[in-house]
Amino acid sequence: KEIAFIFDLDGVIVDTAKYHFLAWRNLANSLGFEFTEAHNELLKGVSRVRSLEILLEIGKVALTEDQKQSLLIKKNEEYLSYVNKMTADEILPGISNLLDYLDVNNIKYALGSASKNAPLILEKVGLLNRFSAIVDGNDVSKAKPDPEVFLIGAQKLQMKPENCIVVEDAIAGIEAANAANMVSIGIGDAELLKKATYILKDTTGFTNDFLKNLIN
Ligand code: BG6
Ligand code: MG
Repeated sequence: KEIAFIFDLDGVIVDTAKYHFLAWRNLANSLGFEFTEAHNELLKGVSRVRSLEILLEIGKVALTEDQKQSLLIKKNEEYLSYVNKMTADEILPGISNLLDYLDVNNIKYALGSASKNAPLILEKVGLLNRFSAIVDGNDVSKAKPDPEVFLIGAQKLQMKPENCIVVEDAIAGIEAANAANMVSIGIGDAELLKKATYILKDTTGFTNDFLKNLIN
């Protein structure tokens, strides 16, 4: 049977969470409160605008819409200063092998990311032209856990949702894949991602054996 993959970006293909963290932490500090790695977990898979809302709730800070807009711009500028330095070395282990495996076996793959910076990041790490379709934060109106991003991805690949396999590190992303009636592979903590069809501790879990079993 014909299948396709749809990949989340941040936390699956590259570890950009550490850059989001630096930028959000500096923003919080400039507003006078601490922002921890644990706080950062709450922002994984969450849209940029919603992330700021959560951050402001943590700091118990109330701002006007204009102030929020300028903070969003500031945060993204700092984030992009890190992204602009990214290279192919930052592709997470096992991912290049996985993409090669899919190419060799004529299995198409798309990107399904909440990030508006997704094309730039893919370009930086040299993966932009490998995806058959890219759906990013500019293409969707409803954020994960809504299935929209993955359903558009399936459409662009001309695949039925039930024949798509989503790779995700965020709970919201697993929920989105499940809501889209797709197979889901969670990357990370098994307890956190227990709603996924399959769970791998990290991206080194994409061994050829795992892939063979999955696909056949
Ligand atoms: C998701 C990340 O992929 O993209 C979130 O997991 C991030 O942490 C979201 O907030 C939006 O990203 P960007 O690049 O548009 O700010
Ligand atoms: Mg992610």
